[in-house]
Amino acid sequence: MLALASCHAASRACSKISARVGVRGRLLRCSSNSAAAPAQAPIEAAARTSGGSPPEYLLRVYQWAYLNPANVPFLDHHLVVNAILWGNADRLMDSAVAEFAPGMRVLQAAAVYGNFSERLARQLGEAGQLTVIDVADIQVQRTREKLAPYPWACVKQGDLSETALEPVEGVCCFFLLHEMPSEVQRRVVQNLLSAVAPGGHVVFVDYHRPHPLHPLRPIMSGVFRHLEPFAESLLDTSIRDLAGDAGDGFTWSHETSFGGLYQKVVARKR
Ligand SMILES: C[S@@+](CC[C@H](N)C(=O)[O-])C[C@H]1O[C@@H](n2cnc3c(N)ncnc32)[C@H](O)[C@@H]1O
Repeated sequence: MLALASCHAASRACSKISARVGVRGRLLRCSSNSAAAPAQAPIEAAARTSGGSPPEYLLRVYQWAYLNPANVPFLDHHLVVNAILWGNADRLMDSAVAEFAPGMRVLQAAAVYGNFSERLARQLGEAGQLTVIDVADIQVQRTREKLAPYPWACVKQGDLSETALEPVEGVCCFFLLHEMPSEVQRRVVQNLLSAVAPGGHVVFVDYHRPHPLHPLRPIMSGVFRHLEPFAESLLDTSIRDLAGDAGDGFTWSHETSFGGLYQKVVARKR
């Protein structure tokens, strides 16, 4: 099934379906966040999903963090994100958001706890367009609530490893890849690259292997071992390598911060 869900940043609900092709899957739901939105060209995001349930790895490893309605309201705070990122949340978020200019049409790959989506929406401004795609219902709903004051933003449900995406000028992937098995990382990276129009770019911010003498290295090794079982595979592979041939048409830049624990990778489509 190929379904095109139109995201209208206007008084029309952006759940309008503009096209359907195929036999499997379901339509993406997308709501405009305000009735007072300016009339703008819609973001058209095509989506192909395989069904209603979250991916196996999310259910098995991250159910407690992203799917459990009892836990999510406690975890979804900037203070929590900042604690997890050792006080670096603002720096990392600012650095990612600054890669996008006002007026751009941007896809945010998955929900992020705290105020990341609001920051990105404010950066793009009302002349811009932000689409967030997340696979989990509860995350979609919460992000819609956060973005309600920004009518140029909308949130859709979809699996980024298989959702067919319409072209955008920018993609922001903030701490998503380390939470996926390596094969899914590969599919997501390649899919996000496929969404970028010529001249556009994809920004990945995620964990990186810290310097051997980093004082937090033993603690982070424990965290990765017990809570983030897919992170090690990301530390062992460059995001450029995950892209495979799909990365050939891009110019790649890479920087690390905080003793190498974090990386920002930017892939610019030539
Ligand atoms: C962005 S990542 C982690 C971000 C960061 N750790 C934080 O503070 O929120 C978490 C989100 O990724 C979503 N997610 C995981 N796999 C996905 C997939 N294949 N497609 C779309 N969203 C996915 C989860 O539902 C969850 O909301």
